[in-house]
Amino acid sequence: MRLTWLLLAALAVRAESLILAPWDESVVSGEVRVVARHEGKAELHVDGKAVAVEPLHAGVWTATVNLEAGGHEIALVGGGKVKVHVGEGAPAGWTRFREHPPGGAACTTCHAVKNGEWAFAKASLVGVCFACHDKAGFPKTHTHEPGIVPDCQLCHAPHGSRAVKHLKMSKEAACKLCHN
Ligand code: HEC
Ligand code: HEC
Ligand code: HEC
Ligand code: HEC
Repeated sequence: MRLTWLLLAALAVRAESLILAPWDESVVSGEVRVVARHEGKAELHVDGKAVAVEPLHAGVWTATVNLEAGGHEIALVGGGKVKVHVGEGAPAGWTRFREHPPGGAACTTCHAVKNGEWAFAKASLVGVCFACHDKAGFPKTHTHEPGIVPDCQLCHAPHGSRAVKHLKMSKEAACKLCHN
């Protein structure tokens, strides 16, 4: 009985549909790159109208949508949705979504399909990150050499965010992942 429940819970997690970028309640420029994970049919609606998507792998796809000034809803059919705003007049508390890496870097900078699964291009992404970021300054900002905290995505949102330094949590909480 309990095992069945756990199995169902596991399946539910796998089937979860998410718009990974942009985040909900974001202020965006007119051109938005959507990154999504969706097990169902790749169908994306902007303000209720279907737009073209680029499937990259089963359940993984991206889309570039062009939005006019004002509020918009980007929705996966049968999945998650996010609200975004272009230009002046965004609701209070909404902040700018900063795409990462900016300028439309290819998904394959970090990803590859391996054994039929959407996976990472390299066993560790550390080298990929430092192709663009300053390695020398790393120990000062992180208290550690990269080798001690190699899973950058533990703390940073890789596709962009509304957060300072793309942090998924406060610095205090981040250190507490390993230190009590
Ligand atoms: C700078 C490196 C980088 C780039 C570029 C990148 N990703 Fe990712 N991606 C990651 C990392 C790291 C994770 C792991 C996410 C996490 O743990 O937060 C991830 C996770 C994912 C996932 C799985 C998310 C989940 O929750 O299971 C999908 C789907 C995905 N990326 C799609 C894309 C697509 C599509 C693009 C291009 C539009 C892209 N990524 C570009 C680094 C990147
Ligand atoms: C344990 C959490 C954690 C991990 C893991 C982590 N970071 Fe950070 N990172 C932080 C925090 C916290 C800051 C903000 C530091 C500050 O502002 O004082 C930061 C800041 C940054 C910055 C901005 C630097 C600056 O000058 O402000 C970059 C770039 C960065 N991290 C890249 C990486 C890369 C690349 C990796 C993987 C090799 C990584 N981080 C792993 C927590 C982490
Ligand atoms: C193709 C180049 C490129 C790659 C690869 C890349 N980044 Fe970045 N990243 C950038 C640029 C450009 C910015 C924006 C810089 C800025 O705003 O100062 C940025 C911003 C960031 C920031 C926020 C810095 C700040 O001061 O707000 C963090 C954290 C970060 N990247 C982490 C990572 C991590 C972790 C990886 C590897 C998974 C990675 N980056 C891979 C180009 C890249
Ligand atoms: C992924 C796990 C991990 C994270 C996250 C982490 N550390 Fe550590 N930390 C270690 C390990 C392992 C050591 C012992 C090896 C060493 O000294 O490099 C250590 C040692 C230290 C030490 C040396 C004193 C001691 O307790 O041994 C300090 C200070 C420290 N960490 C601060 C931080 C700060 C500040 C952060 C957040 C920015 C942080 N750590 C995040 C794993 C981590």
